[in-house]
Amino acid sequence: MSMTADAVIGLEGVHLSYGSRRGSVAALEDIGITARPGEFIAVVGPSGCGKSTLLKLISGLLQPTQGVVRLNGKPVTGPSPEVGVVFQSPLLMPWRNVLANILLPIEIRGLDMATYMPKARRLIELVGLSGFADRHPYELSGGMQQRVGLCRALVHDPEVLLMDEPFGALDAMTRELMNDELQRIWMEQRKTVLLITHSISEAVYLADRILVMGPRPGRIIGDITVDLPRPRTLDMSESVEFARVANQVRRLLSAIGQMD
Ligand SMILES: Nc1ncnc2c1ncn2[C@@H]1O[C@H](COP(=O)(O)OP(=O)(O)OP(=O)(O)O)[C@@H](O)[C@H]1O
Ligand SMILES: [Mg+2]
Repeated sequence: MSMTADAVIGLEGVHLSYGSRRGSVAALEDIGITARPGEFIAVVGPSGCGKSTLLKLISGLLQPTQGVVRLNGKPVTGPSPEVGVVFQSPLLMPWRNVLANILLPIEIRGLDMATYMPKARRLIELVGLSGFADRHPYELSGGMQQRVGLCRALVHDPEVLLMDEPFGALDAMTRELMNDELQRIWMEQRKTVLLITHSISEAVYLADRILVMGPRPGRIIGDITVDLPRPRTLDMSESVEFARVANQVRRLLSAIGQMD
């Protein structure tokens, strides 16, 4: 039996090359990842090392050139209802209000609106957007739009949540608030999470494990366990363990010529 067969997310010997008329670009090389149920994994690595590519493979938008990507033991062949994705920019539809944006995946999948409407409203409350359900994206701040994106990824109650630098465009304070929001939702719902981030401190703050990737073609050069209690608080970011883990990640990145 395969090592990753009982994992929620399992990648084995995954290579991905992008083909073009001018030849092919190797983006990922020999990637192996196992995510257990409810685990929170952060991925850090230099620009262009294949982090978004990795997320596209797990969400079924790309197929590996070699190797296998599994969700709950089954090879991924296309987008799956078990997965919710949050992109770097929230990509909301400007003519739809908050509620209608959140319900978009339900509409696309042809699921029963009456079932999911209360879920959408509950998520709106959970992320602190009560009273904004009938507002339009232009009436919201960047952080609020990002929260709508998070609700939209969660509305069909996926088992797996994939996030590609969801808070990269936010100011430092909003980002800290969003980190706490995300931790709260994760502690309540226990999704299996894969979060791509450029921020080492965000990775340490949120993750159970941090995967560090090397430059293109991306490989995993470090798998670091974060042994801090939950819920994590800002005070902990001054703790010895926090600094130890952050430095471990930083050393791996600086060994390949990358800074924080
Ligand atoms: N559709 C594509 N066609 C050809 N090459 C691509 C395509 N998408 C990405 N690449 C190449 O694959 C490599 C990995 O890209 P990817 O977007 O996964 O990197 P990343 O780690 O997410 O970078 P960043 O941190 O800047 O977002 C890059 O070298 C990029 O040029
Ligand atoms: Mg990317």
